[in-house]
Amino acid sequence: MTGNELRKSFIDFFKTKEHKHFESASLIPDDKTLLLTVAGMVPFKPFFLGEKKAPYKRITTYQKCIRTNDLENVGVTPRHHTFFEMLGNFSFGDYFKKEAIEWSWEYITQILKLDPKRLYVSVYLTDDEAYDIWTKEIGVPEDHMVRLGDDDNWWAAGPIGSCGPCSEIYYDTMNMGENNEEINAKPGDEGNRFLEIWNLVFTEWNRLEDGSLVPLPEKNIDTGAGLERIASVVQNKVNNFETDIFSPITNEIKKVLQLNEDGLSTPVKIVADHLRASTFLIADGVLPSNEGRGYILKKLIRRAYGSGALENKEIFDNSETYLYKIVDTIIDNIKEAYPELEEKREYIKNIIKNEEDKFSRTLKIGTNILFEEIEEARKNNSNKLSSEVSFKLYDTYGFPFEFTKFIAENNNIEVSEDEFNIKLEEQVKRSQDSRNKTSDMIKDEFIDSFYKTHGKTQFLGYDSLKIYSKVLHIKEIENKMYEIIFEETPFYAESGGQVSDRGIITDKKEFTGEIINVVKKSDIFIHYFKLISGNIPNVGDELKLIVDEEFRRDTMKNHTATHLLHKALREVLGTTVEQAGSLVNNKGLRFDFSYYEAITPEQLRLIETKVNDAILANMPVYITYENINDAISKGAMALFSDKYGDIVRVVDISDYSIELCGGTHVKSTGAIGLFKILSEQGKASGVRRIEAITGKESLAYLYKLENTIDDISSKFKTSSGNVIEAINKSREEAKLQEQLIKELQRRLVTYEMSDLVNEAVEINGVKVLYKDFENKDIDELKSLIDIAKQKLKSCVVIFGSNNDKAIFVAGVTKDLTSKYHSGNIVKVAANFAGGNGGGRPDFAQAGGKEGKLTKDAINAAIEYIKGL
Ligand code: SER
Repeated sequence: MTGNELRKSFIDFFKTKEHKHFESASLIPDDKTLLLTVAGMVPFKPFFLGEKKAPYKRITTYQKCIRTNDLENVGVTPRHHTFFEMLGNFSFGDYFKKEAIEWSWEYITQILKLDPKRLYVSVYLTDDEAYDIWTKEIGVPEDHMVRLGDDDNWWAAGPIGSCGPCSEIYYDTMNMGENNEEINAKPGDEGNRFLEIWNLVFTEWNRLEDGSLVPLPEKNIDTGAGLERIASVVQNKVNNFETDIFSPITNEIKKVLQLNEDGLSTPVKIVADHLRASTFLIADGVLPSNEGRGYILKKLIRRAYGSGALENKEIFDNSETYLYKIVDTIIDNIKEAYPELEEKREYIKNIIKNEEDKFSRTLKIGTNILFEEIEEARKNNSNKLSSEVSFKLYDTYGFPFEFTKFIAENNNIEVSEDEFNIKLEEQVKRSQDSRNKTSDMIKDEFIDSFYKTHGKTQFLGYDSLKIYSKVLHIKEIENKMYEIIFEETPFYAESGGQVSDRGIITDKKEFTGEIINVVKKSDIFIHYFKLISGNIPNVGDELKLIVDEEFRRDTMKNHTATHLLHKALREVLGTTVEQAGSLVNNKGLRFDFSYYEAITPEQLRLIETKVNDAILANMPVYITYENINDAISKGAMALFSDKYGDIVRVVDISDYSIELCGGTHVKSTGAIGLFKILSEQGKASGVRRIEAITGKESLAYLYKLENTIDDISSKFKTSSGNVIEAINKSREEAKLQEQLIKELQRRLVTYEMSDLVNEAVEINGVKVLYKDFENKDIDELKSLIDIAKQKLKSCVVIFGSNNDKAIFVAGVTKDLTSKYHSGNIVKVAANFAGGNGGGRPDFAQAGGKEGKLTKDAINAAIEYIKGL
């Protein structure tokens, strides 16, 4: 079975067991406590925790996952990956241990036809129920069973929250090790003999803060089987990288790197793994950067680049980009399961190429540092490179250790792998500590207990802006600032880029509070208000909640305009455009999207026109609640985070733009008014940002423009209709005046010169004219020289001017150039004034730093002339 067939057979099998197939969720989880989707169950965390009701009791998925905690093992061991796919079946309060075990066994023995003699099973130490199902009902012999403890057979996504014992299925690879050392190995031991292929988690407990376990209201099942591992077993390969999931990719890598060797080197495996991960991360909207997911992506691309470049000297020497060429094969090999990759193909290649390009230069800098360090070591008569250096190269410049080692050893310098590993472990530990703090399933205790008592808040703000509602919770959070929760609310809470509503809350007496922010946690709307007057209300009081209508109306215009803009961008720039962020408020909108080059003014104008055409068509906006699949099949654009509700809210602008969206919108597009783009710029590599306005703001913008034009017109004493003509006329006039000034200056110079030529002296029988001026520019001096030459017919001239700095110009009439050289004359003067210069025999110019020495410098030049 190929990898693609395997994936499909798993889903098909669980469909026959009445599971609903859900598409793979994004690698970027909805859950803010996790950086990446690390397991098949991640998108379902709210269902496991009982925060949301699962839309189906049985779900099956193949889920794209990334784990980066074992980065160093990738390509070294046969099984480690950053990107991998997890096949899973999930039960939310439906079937439990018996069915989960039976079906997993049925699938691997009947469908995959694995030999039961090579299958082993572990259960949790005290889980007799699972042990009995496996041995008595399935018939797994006792010598194929092991009981393991918390480390192996207890699964929790964090220190508190849902968890439970698990049971793992192992495959005996019969790989006994080089010296037969694994002959007596058991599942769960270190080593490569027993390969865990499927983990069945019986999620039945909730761990509380104090560490105690209480039963969950519903028992759940979460199973996970690594596709790459199962493929290696089914395809009888000792290494995951040899399965058909990887072989077309590794072949392409070898082709691009021009490697002729048989087998797969570690660098080739690293490139294959990291590039798959990078392709998927970019497809899900991650871009290389210096923090969070962006950093992970950057590191993966850089490690891949360095590893490959190590294999091909030419690529390294010429800083060639090559990774992007392999992306096509990656996509072709897997697009059957992830068709969305197809339309992002060029975008992904572009981002990767860009990053390679940047890194290839860093690599050069890093290599230089390495050579300096090697030199330094030699100077100190040492033949060793410190681990500080090898680690810094790894950590800061993304040098794979092998890379440093390769270069150092070629220069007869040792570099210790053990010391490097110690540094690496320290860092891994540091990052694990910080991961433990952030990646668990910590819930907001307050929200949790509030939810249990009251359920969720009803949001009525799509239809009403003014309602009465009962206070369920109120608390002062700082001086005169309170949080308050109502049974029902018309206030929109900040989400999907749209800011929260503003407004006021009052009671029948004197109390008035100003709502300044509203946030939503697990469907509970928490309002923040400032006390304006009266006494703080109590829980149980009924208050009047009034949304600021104008604020909301203006915000709605911008939100609907954002949808139109999104659509127009895709029409004009293509479907690689993906929303990368958005902000909608009463003043305007900001839309970030993926696109890898600057947008031309023509494209921008076209985008703006398309949006305005859609506004002028006054298209009705329909809001419906639909089944997610129906919405997607009619082409609704959705962020992945929207995909796990069963019924979704669809904003349909008369079939022109269809998006899943919880925001508030105008009833028909005409209400938006003029849409005006104010700016378009690059925000990060591969991300552009457009800022635009609508409604009143566009009108204000227009008035401002009009005022500016009126101002200009009145300055030109004309009407706005004639202002361009007036400006052109004025520019023409200015040009004429400039010419006139030039002519007058020329005449003035000629006039000055008629006196000046009388000051010419005779030196060695030749007429020499010299003078120093103040603040004359070089052009004036040049004209003076020309006129002097004309008037005196045969002469040597040198002029200078003190303009803070000194400038000098010299001229010699042709008849004298065999003896007097302007370049040499001017050079003497310039040298005197702290400068240099030279030029032709008949004409030359030069400058010096010391303006105040101009006169003396000219005298020096005269002395020089006298001596010729
Ligand atoms: N959550 C479990 C795991 O990741 C089973 O899916 O192994």
